[in-house]
Amino acid sequence: MARLLLVSNRLPVTVKVEHGEVHVTRSAGGLATGMKGPHERSGGLWLGYPGDVSRLPPEQRAALEARLEDLRYVPLHLSPGEVSRFYEGFSNGVLWPLFHYLLDQVPIGERDWESYRRVNERFADLVAAHHREGDLIWVHDYQLMLVPGLLRKKIPNARIGFFLHIPFPSAEVFRILPWRTQLLEGLLGADLLGFHTLSYLRHFASSLLHVLGIEANVDRVFTEGREVRLGAFPMGIDAAALSTLAGSPEVDAEAQTFRQPGQRILLGIDRLDYTKGIPRRLLAVERLLEREPSLRGKVRLVQVTVPSRTNVEAYQGFRSRVDELVGRINGAYATVHSVPIHSMYRSFNERQLAALYRAADVMLVTPLRDGMNLVAKEFVASRTDDDGVLVLSEFAGAASELADALLVNPYDIGGVAATLKRALTMPQGERRQRMQNLRQRVLENDVHGWAQSFLSTLEEQSEASSGRSLG
Ligand code: G6P
Repeated sequence: MARLLLVSNRLPVTVKVEHGEVHVTRSAGGLATGMKGPHERSGGLWLGYPGDVSRLPPEQRAALEARLEDLRYVPLHLSPGEVSRFYEGFSNGVLWPLFHYLLDQVPIGERDWESYRRVNERFADLVAAHHREGDLIWVHDYQLMLVPGLLRKKIPNARIGFFLHIPFPSAEVFRILPWRTQLLEGLLGADLLGFHTLSYLRHFASSLLHVLGIEANVDRVFTEGREVRLGAFPMGIDAAALSTLAGSPEVDAEAQTFRQPGQRILLGIDRLDYTKGIPRRLLAVERLLEREPSLRGKVRLVQVTVPSRTNVEAYQGFRSRVDELVGRINGAYATVHSVPIHSMYRSFNERQLAALYRAADVMLVTPLRDGMNLVAKEFVASRTDDDGVLVLSEFAGAASELADALLVNPYDIGGVAATLKRALTMPQGERRQRMQNLRQRVLENDVHGWAQSFLSTLEEQSEASSGRSLG
């Protein structure tokens, strides 16, 4: 197997300092899990930002660097200005909302592009400094879209793959970006460009045509004498591991403690992000209670919201909007014994999440737009009892795979409320059949298969390209 150089904005680690000692642990996120095997087997490196370690005293900083080196992680440190302009400003202030079709969140200014370009150059320089002949380079996500093109200039015969973890928007939306040409040219530096779904791939191909005048031949693009392959690789989760955890007696016992007799649980788990559709979800629950007085006191939405990107302007006012709605709905429908919305703003560990998934009657995954949404897959993998109903937004990438979920348009509040009623009254036989079908899909298409299929396509593509240029 070729040596693998993984490149992502964040390294997949959590750095903690306890009693003066530095601990570096691998994060549990999808990317970290999926790459664990290939990273270990290939003996390669992972390059990315380790988080803000600028306040660590020198000896602890040295200990951190040594730990990272042991794990074969290469840190790229960002200055506070780079965090503010490259990460918060351009990546999460401009690209994130635009790629999720939320144009009203895109600021008018142009100040952060230059920083995005420079940090992408820093990443490309670092990768080039570690690159050896024969390596496979895999670059991840919207923060690093210029890296493939920059690397191609530095190392013309490098083997480069890129995967986009968020949606690629329609060409009509993409071409709003003043930097549309540079971004597309950056991506075209890769040998293989991967997306979660075929429709993202088609949007990308149509952007190429509109912006650069380059026509794709189904899944291939010819540019500057090279062939770039396009592919849909729907990302999965570590379904077997989560299934084992969720089916364990400890998790089962914890899930029991969440249930209350005579009460049904609706569950939402999201990063606090305006793309996740949380306010409209709350309004749909309110509409349900308004229409169905018999459900009052018998249904509770447990909403876990995990803090995220708290320095980005659009995220700051958003938290109080959610809190205000929760307060209003609880004020109207709470009784002395129950509240309809049980809202928690913090992180939960994997075991607690598994117990919540097991305890839920209905899981609500209703983003306004989402590249894939792995929470939907985690819920399914956790339901070793073949029970529970998944209500899923048709605007999440996962909807193109999970046909046995109840699909909803998250903008249609009345429609979501009606679907919630359907989910709560679904006969057990139908619940079981749907969940068994969902489980089969999620267990078969897991994150390990995802990583393998991307990497084998990349090897195949780069061999074909080098064969062609030699011949
Ligand atoms: C999304 C993106 C990832 C990102 C994650 C967390 O899933 O696709 O690239 O790492 O959100 O966001 P953060 O800004 O905290 O890295």
